[in-house]
Amino acid sequence: MDIYRLMMPCLVLGTRPEIIKMAPVIRELGAREIPFRLVHTGQHYSPDLDGVFFDDLGLPPPDINLGVGSGTHAEETAGIMVGVERALLKGGADITLVLGDTNSTLGGALAAAKLHVPLGHIEAGLRSHDRRMPEEINRVLTDHCSDFLFPPTPNAEHGLLAEGIDAEKMRTTGNTIVDAVEQSIAIARERSTILEELRLEPSSYLLATAHRHENVDDRTKLAVIMEGLGRVAARLDLPIVCPLHPRTKNRLGEFGLSVPQGVMVTEPLGYLDFLHLEAHARIVLTDSGGIQEEACILGVPCVTFRDNTERPETLEVGSNVLAGTDPERMVECARNMLKAAGGWTNPFGDGKAAGRIVDSLFDGSWLHK
Ligand code: UD1
Ligand code: UDP
Repeated sequence: MDIYRLMMPCLVLGTRPEIIKMAPVIRELGAREIPFRLVHTGQHYSPDLDGVFFDDLGLPPPDINLGVGSGTHAEETAGIMVGVERALLKGGADITLVLGDTNSTLGGALAAAKLHVPLGHIEAGLRSHDRRMPEEINRVLTDHCSDFLFPPTPNAEHGLLAEGIDAEKMRTTGNTIVDAVEQSIAIARERSTILEELRLEPSSYLLATAHRHENVDDRTKLAVIMEGLGRVAARLDLPIVCPLHPRTKNRLGEFGLSVPQGVMVTEPLGYLDFLHLEAHARIVLTDSGGIQEEACILGVPCVTFRDNTERPETLEVGSNVLAGTDPERMVECARNMLKAAGGWTNPFGDGKAAGRIVDSLFDGSWLHK
């Protein structure tokens, strides 16, 4: 065993998409018998946003759960910083790895950077260029305090270079979501009974999710999105399945809004059920980042009800279209995407991103030169 294999990484994660996208890295470390520490911030804690993904993806339990829970942005980020700092001081780490753009990403990044623990950012360089999104602030700050950046695509890499980040700090790897989909799709096909449970035939329904703060925390905007989904279901004459994020469920209740006819709401789904449902949907309507990527990988057309995206590759290959939140535009985009031929090239990589990330960190040529 060479000296670099003795390096101990600390992986920080805290939300549903981080668990899914970090899973291939965790598996890769496990397969190579490289010891690591897994710190869960506790930002997501409900079993259907957290535990189900550890079960579905066969992941080891976290070494520590900081139990930070929900709060304002400052409360969540500060709690995560305090917890990660303590964990790093107590347990030690030679490198901290964070992924994506959540408060857990930023809190973990700031804590590590200030302790001078080398910091690696997986899924670096994504930009919506919309600072109203809390995620955009998290992405920019995390990238700029990272020592090692893993942009998933050439587009993300070029953006980082344009911001003045040194090319020497970067390795373009592909996105670990491709690895995650490839590792889970056959298992989902074999194990998931979600279509039977919801009494759906493949290709006979649409799938929708909504949870972006800027979409669902505003009563008018949420009402308009629901109206849009209702019109899409009616005009296309196809039911829409909508697994509801708790943020959205809570807002619908607080605002006294109801779900339109034709939209079938469920609890948030586990990864295997969601992936199976997504793979067999005619189209997906969403404001999620990861689902824009996943639909593209699965060959399912996507309508994004936002005005911008940090995943422009999906627009370039034609798998996705930006509809904004105007109900008629949502209907028009859904109608058009229903006719989309598919067959686009997946721009997010070859399913070996996690291997490249671990190679870069452990082959000694980069970190220890
Ligand atoms: C967070 C991320 C977002 C990511 C999303 C993935 C930030 C700023 N936002 O948004 O980028 O796309 O996760 O799903 O980090 N709640 C529960 N149970 C939970 C967690 C949350 O019921 O386990 C409810 C609480 O009412 C909470 C609300 O959801 O206030 C929002 O949770 P929070 O983690 O702050 O943001 P998300 O909307 O989940
Ligand atoms: N997802 C899931 N169950 C659901 C909704 C989403 O497993 O009910 C998965 C989905 O497959 C994708 C990820 O969650 O991989 C996307 O997470 P989310 O939309 O919460 O966050 P974002 O990607 O926008 O940060």
